[in-house]
Amino acid sequence: MTFPILEGKVAIITGAAMGMGEQTAKLFSEAKAKVVIADFNEEKGRAVTEEINQSGGEAAFIKVDISNAEDVRKMVEFTVETYGKLDVAVNNAALTPDDKPTVEFDEQYWDRLIAVDLKGTALCMKYQLQQLQKQGKGGSIINISSISGFRP
Ligand SMILES: NC(=O)c1ccc[n+]([C@@H]2O[C@H](COP(=O)([O-])OP(=O)(O)OC[C@H]3O[C@@H](n4cnc5c(N)ncnc54)[C@H](O)[C@@H]3O)[C@@H](O)[C@H]2O)c1
Repeated sequence: MTFPILEGKVAIITGAAMGMGEQTAKLFSEAKAKVVIADFNEEKGRAVTEEINQSGGEAAFIKVDISNAEDVRKMVEFTVETYGKLDVAVNNAALTPDDKPTVEFDEQYWDRLIAVDLKGTALCMKYQLQQLQKQGKGGSIINISSISGFRP
């Protein structure tokens, strides 16, 4: 499958160290986009980055916790410093909801889940939008959600 629209574009993929984010980053790279692999998991994130670069793509890694505003601001700054601009962001990083029934929910996990999945995604959009507005040429932000949001 080819996506000529992505050729030469610069994309941030959060949560790209594994799972859907990793596959998205590889797909973007195959379409000749430059990708920033942004993830909390440094070991796996760097391995994916290396794999993309060794297969002829262009990728750079940054360690980020999307629930931390300063990390997210630096992620966007790093993208612009490395590749000169931002065109696309795939906000994919997330924690999987706790499987426990509501009557037993773990309060600490709940707080972390809201901080990452909800606030973290909003923080990503905040700093990505600031950059896209500065560039003045539009762009695309894709937020990955889940059917788990409806399940309860
Ligand atoms: N896998 C599925 O079947 C499925 C279905 C529906 C929706 N989704 C959604 O797709 C997205 C990816 O799912 P997945 O199954 O590939 O997840 P995954 O658990 O395999 O990967 C998530 C990645 O996000 C990273 N991450 C977690 N917290 C982070 C943080 N605070 N900062 C930075 N990185 C962080 C992890 O290190 C990991 O690399 C999620 O948003 C999930 O809700 C997945």
